[in-house]
Amino acid sequence: MTHPLRLTVNGHPHDVHLEDPRPTLLDVLRDRLGLTGTKKGCDRGQCGACTVLVDGRRVNSCLTLALSVDGAEITTIEGLARNGSLHPVQAAFVAHDGFQCGYCTPGQIMSAVGLIAEGGAGDDPARIREGMSGNLCRCAAYPGIAEAVRDAQQRMAKSDGEPA
Ligand code: FES
Ligand code: FES
Repeated sequence: MTHPLRLTVNGHPHDVHLEDPRPTLLDVLRDRLGLTGTKKGCDRGQCGACTVLVDGRRVNSCLTLALSVDGAEITTIEGLARNGSLHPVQAAFVAHDGFQCGYCTPGQIMSAVGLIAEGGAGDDPARIREGMSGNLCRCAAYPGIAEAVRDAQQRMAKSDGEPA
């Protein structure tokens, strides 16, 4: 018996037939749909590397059963750029050098997009860090990541969220 699943990922519908009901959304994205931008770090909900948006809300895809989001709209890191232009959060990560390992970066960026959609965290660095606390990077890139989130939310507030 197979388990049918329909996901709209980055605006494209995908029908998947799962032989087993247990795969996570992370594994379906990476292994079945070939969208490997979403990273598997801890695979147990602790690092945030696997963060994607489900119906606009950020989730850890490693803790989400794929069948539980049947019919949902999923946004992954591959879906952020528009017409060859980086999303403002991606551009801000470049501008503020918010990369070091790069492995945590897609999850950091997706979480920042979700945080800004939730209303942002204002200008207060402590609130930004609290809002991003589910995403682990505390290496030398972290000040750049926090600054990128602050910068991107200001730019998006001015431009109504449209890429500049
Ligand atoms: S891989 Fe999902 S939280 Fe670490
Ligand atoms: S950039 Fe990934 S741990 Fe710092």
